[in-house]
Amino acid sequence: MRILITAGGTREYIDPVRFISNASSGRMGYALARAALKAGHEVTLITAPTALKPPAGTQVIRVESAAEMFEAVKAEFSRCECLIMAAAVSDYTPARPSKTKLKKQTNNLTLELKPTQDILKWAGKHKAASQALGRRPQIVVGFALEDRDLWANAERKLHEKNLDLIVANAPSAIGAERSTVHIKIRGAEWIETADRNKTATAGRIIALIERHVHRERL
Ligand code: CTP
Repeated sequence: MRILITAGGTREYIDPVRFISNASSGRMGYALARAALKAGHEVTLITAPTALKPPAGTQVIRVESAAEMFEAVKAEFSRCECLIMAAAVSDYTPARPSKTKLKKQTNNLTLELKPTQDILKWAGKHKAASQALGRRPQIVVGFALEDRDLWANAERKLHEKNLDLIVANAPSAIGAERSTVHIKIRGAEWIETADRNKTATAGRIIALIERHVHRERL
């Protein structure tokens, strides 16, 4: 398969030198890229800034903001059989970023934020759903970070965003080396991978995607 993977936390600039971001290390997305390559797939990695080195053999597209990531996904999506949105995309971005560095003042500073495009939702809406025009159905995989009602909230996202598979975890997984993740393929039961490192979890996710694709084609 040609697999498109996003990774890292986006940066939403307030002015030329300051941005809003999150604690994502990018490790999950990079581990998925490695696991997919190892399994023989062709990988394009769209990455927000991280301290990691992309695995050799991946096509790498570097972006910073949610808007840039959306443009890159839109440009690549139709050429791929599978999209895995492992990136921690900012839900909001400054409504009016300053072109020049903001000067400090003595009074409070209020930032106005506007919502970003939900890239995963866009992909779920635009994925090729059938064998029409000789195309294979596209698989869209999302992540969900939930601090309560993990299964219920993740399942709602699976359906609302028209995903094929969702990987849910708790906020403690952000930046961590080991974590417990919950995986659900549409129409199947939840699978829990207890306290594993990201390499093992990534291998499991790629294997489940392959199994799902295989079943869909039968
Ligand atoms: N995502 C995305 N575009 C955004 C925000 C998130 O594609 N602008 C993707 C992430 O890459 C991840 C999933 O959506 O795969 C995570 O969504 P999450 O932040 O958990 O859920 P939301 O739908 O934003 O809902 P909420 O924050 O309210 O829980």
